[in-house]
Amino acid sequence: MRKPFIAGNWKMNKTAEEAAGLAGKIKENVGNFEEVDILICPPYTSLLAAGQAVKDSLIELGAQNMHWENSGAFTGEVSPQMVKESGCKFVIAGHSERRKYFSETNQEVNKKIKAAISAGLLPIVCIGETLEQREQKKEREVVEKQLKEGFDSLPEEDLGKITVAYEPVWAIGTGKTASGEQAEEMHSFIREWFKNAYSSQTAEKLRLLYGGSVKPGNIKELISKENIDGALVGGASLKADDFTEIVKNSA
Ligand code: 13P
Repeated sequence: MRKPFIAGNWKMNKTAEEAAGLAGKIKENVGNFEEVDILICPPYTSLLAAGQAVKDSLIELGAQNMHWENSGAFTGEVSPQMVKESGCKFVIAGHSERRKYFSETNQEVNKKIKAAISAGLLPIVCIGETLEQREQKKEREVVEKQLKEGFDSLPEEDLGKITVAYEPVWAIGTGKTASGEQAEEMHSFIREWFKNAYSSQTAEKLRLLYGGSVKPGNIKELISKENIDGALVGGASLKADDFTEIVKNSA
């Protein structure tokens, strides 16, 4: 049985002060909630404040991105160690907004996954197709390429440290959620891919999150599906009450 996992991706929202407030409210609501693993991913500059606010609770902290090098002349970037030092246990890699606005490639995602694991961080790897790709019926092809290149030469023993988030780009921030069936169809395809690339045993343990307009009202249907183990939540993770309800509805 895979434990439900709800992660909030705050994107470029919440100053340190605001982050402490939001994280504090989430802690009050579900800080001791044991049935679901809970993660919040504030922006870099709010990590310390949010981390302080959820201290001594079950809520984990994650970053939204990082560079794969340990240090060097990479102006504006943040290293795996820096992320770790900020109190993070998790790091998101390959979010579609990074791929779209910052031209992040599968090869870079691959380096980030490996660097995160070397630094003792747990990567949440995002994949998913655009609307255009879905309309051309290329969603499987796109996702398969993201998996093949993103997980290139990643040893099986490291797969236990990974979470995969399927986020169809057309459902992100649009209010347009994939139906339970649409999401499950892709999740089952993704788990099959891991079975073939690694083993059934490893693939069965892997947690697959859905992301894209997840709300308190649709999480139950999504998480009731066999291969959907939780959600990566954007907009609704910025409201303590909505996020709390999503967590509770996932149990
Ligand atoms: P929304 O929940 O706002 O659609 O965002 C999803 C997302 O991108 C999470 O990473």
